[in-house]
Amino acid sequence: MKILFIGDVVGSPGRDMVQDYLPKLKEKYRPHMTIINGENAASGKGITEKIYKQFLESGAQVITMGNHTWDKKEIFEFIEDATYMIRPANFPEGTPGKGLVFVNINGVEIAVINLQGRTFLPAIDDPFRKVDKLIDEAKKRTNIIFIDFHGEATSEKQAMGWYTDGRVSAVVGTHTHTQTADERILPEGTAYISDVGMTGSYDGILGMEREAVLKRFLTSLPVRFEINKKGRKQLNGFIVSIDKNSGKAMKVERILINDDHPFFG
Ligand SMILES: [Fe+2]
Ligand SMILES: [Fe+2]
Repeated sequence: MKILFIGDVVGSPGRDMVQDYLPKLKEKYRPHMTIINGENAASGKGITEKIYKQFLESGAQVITMGNHTWDKKEIFEFIEDATYMIRPANFPEGTPGKGLVFVNINGVEIAVINLQGRTFLPAIDDPFRKVDKLIDEAKKRTNIIFIDFHGEATSEKQAMGWYTDGRVSAVVGTHTHTQTADERILPEGTAYISDVGMTGSYDGILGMEREAVLKRFLTSLPVRFEINKKGRKQLNGFIVSIDKNSGKAMKVERILINDDHPFFG
């Protein structure tokens, strides 16, 4: 079972990269399933129903979210009907949506979980206690469990990797929009990377226009950030091969596509 994950898709440059490269990635790697982090897919903030559906049509099976889940107000209108969208499971009890979804691919069931860290991010429920409960729930149906852990601190993400090692198939970090080169399989069989990175502008700052971000740093004044639509684009991803029965990871590969790291199909 091969799963492709695409890191935070930021605005139209990110969506364009998904349209352009997802077919090529599928041809090259032949994943059975594709997961996209879509928390920044709509102009950098949140997601719309239209974009959610576009992602599914372009060949993704699950869309994960993060701290930008609620940025587009229309999310409240469609999240309960968006079967294959998950938001961090450790948002407070009673929050709309869900944090765990099961997908059936040719008779094989896969559990996908979204969680969010608490270091340098809003205070929410404990993701570690929450993951124990979710693993118990998922294990009743499958050994193949994939986690998108949306967090700022690499230490918290590494901690989640080690905490769940051997109990889940993969823990991939998202949120920083900067890919880390620490992909590995932990000793008990959990694939891990601290951050998959970002899909969007290669010439902006974390996908946004440089000028506004620089102004914020140089003046500390409140500045409105816009998507950087000029210049080059990138796609960041991660692919993991998983033993269908045991759920253990067998191979991991980091995907980095930009002008400095061209894609060879
Ligand atoms: Fe993000
Ligand atoms: Fe985020």
